[in-house]
Amino acid sequence: MFLLGTATTFAGAFLAACGSNPSVEVAATEVPVGSAVIIDSFIIAQPTEGNFLAYSSTCPHQNNPITEVEGEIVRCTAHNSEFSIVDGAVLAGPSRDPLIPSQLTESGGTLSVTRK
Ligand code: FES
Repeated sequence: MFLLGTATTFAGAFLAACGSNPSVEVAATEVPVGSAVIIDSFIIAQPTEGNFLAYSSTCPHQNNPITEVEGEIVRCTAHNSEFSIVDGAVLAGPSRDPLIPSQLTESGGTLSVTRK
């Protein structure tokens, strides 16, 4: 059985083996309820318990990385666009477009995320 290290370590190891289609895997327990984690090029959220969603962490405004999480809000500090983790909607800032959804599957307590 493969044992999980930290989310970052596991994700990094997976990314290294993956090549052109970015993807990460993370233990579901690493994603806080009512918030999200940002791992490499993905935002992985759990707005309500057991409801997992994923988005690209590339800002839809001008493609800078989204780097901040505050509860149910993620923020791109380049121009301060803010987005909801619940549905990806723009809450503030210059972005006119919502977060870009990513594909997420769950198996045995592990979340696998890839680009759609
Ligand atoms: S690139 Fe993210 S707000 Fe402008």
